[in-house]
Amino acid sequence: MASPELAVASDHERPSSIIDDESSVTGSVLTAMAGAENPRLREIMASFVRHMHDFAREVRLTEEEFELGIEFLNRIGQASHDAHNEGILFSDAIGFSSLVCLLNNGKSGATETAAALLGPFWRMNSPRTENGGSIVRSETPGPPLFVSCRVTDPQGRPIAGVEVDVWHASPVGYYENQDESQADMNLRGKFTTDADGRFGFRSVKPAGYPVPTDGPVGDLLRAQRRHPYRPAHLHFLAYKPGYKTLVTQVFVDDDQYLGTDVVFGVTRHLIGQYERHDKGDAPAGDVTPPWYTLDYTFVMEPGEAKLPKPPIK
Ligand SMILES: [Fe+2]
Repeated sequence: MASPELAVASDHERPSSIIDDESSVTGSVLTAMAGAENPRLREIMASFVRHMHDFAREVRLTEEEFELGIEFLNRIGQASHDAHNEGILFSDAIGFSSLVCLLNNGKSGATETAAALLGPFWRMNSPRTENGGSIVRSETPGPPLFVSCRVTDPQGRPIAGVEVDVWHASPVGYYENQDESQADMNLRGKFTTDADGRFGFRSVKPAGYPVPTDGPVGDLLRAQRRHPYRPAHLHFLAYKPGYKTLVTQVFVDDDQYLGTDVVFGVTRHLIGQYERHDKGDAPAGDVTPPWYTLDYTFVMEPGEAKLPKPPIK
């Protein structure tokens, strides 16, 4: 029983929540939550409870399955720490992150969008790097990659002064924070677009990689007979006041997992043409064939500029 000090006026006024049977629980919970002052909290929690209750009814959830589900949630929390976010991974693996991304970009889901998942590996404060500079900060064997990008508005006009974070996995599929052989901030950089909206950099061609499978999400993937791989990609985050912050990924077109991304992040718009060069003059003197180039144009929509919360430190 709630102590008198904790009781609030609305508790005394609302109808009794003594439960008659299975069918009356949902209504009682919705009534109990109806006093939330924040209207968005009210709306979201009411919908969440309705769907959760209907979900349990639809599958006739057993007590053993309920316990398994709670244990799964607890394991997600226990597996998460400063350098790993199992919660995002779970959301990604059931396509929920991708759905939320598509609902919130491209005119609220009405049109194709250039946006994609942030993923679990963005870090704040990537090293500022001059245009054309290299983001290879420690020896990283792999095919050289030269990237030339442009940022425009929806009318195709260049946007100068956009801050663009770039990050990606190595040619063996590890981000620097997962791999002791890479220097801190290897394959990460921050660029600013010039007067033509351009920025570019040198790196190495990334490889696809498995998402971490040593936690509860890995157990789920195995139970569903799903492979854990993401197709190779570069991550970008473009920020300028007056424009909706663009978080996106550009996928490598010849990757074997392009059509079966474990986190459902690939849209047609985000497949880049990573062109292989087997002869001719490379863009840098120390480079011998083969090397790759990628040209890509990002479109930023007018809107609010805000940075996401970094999933790791
Ligand atoms: Fe990634």
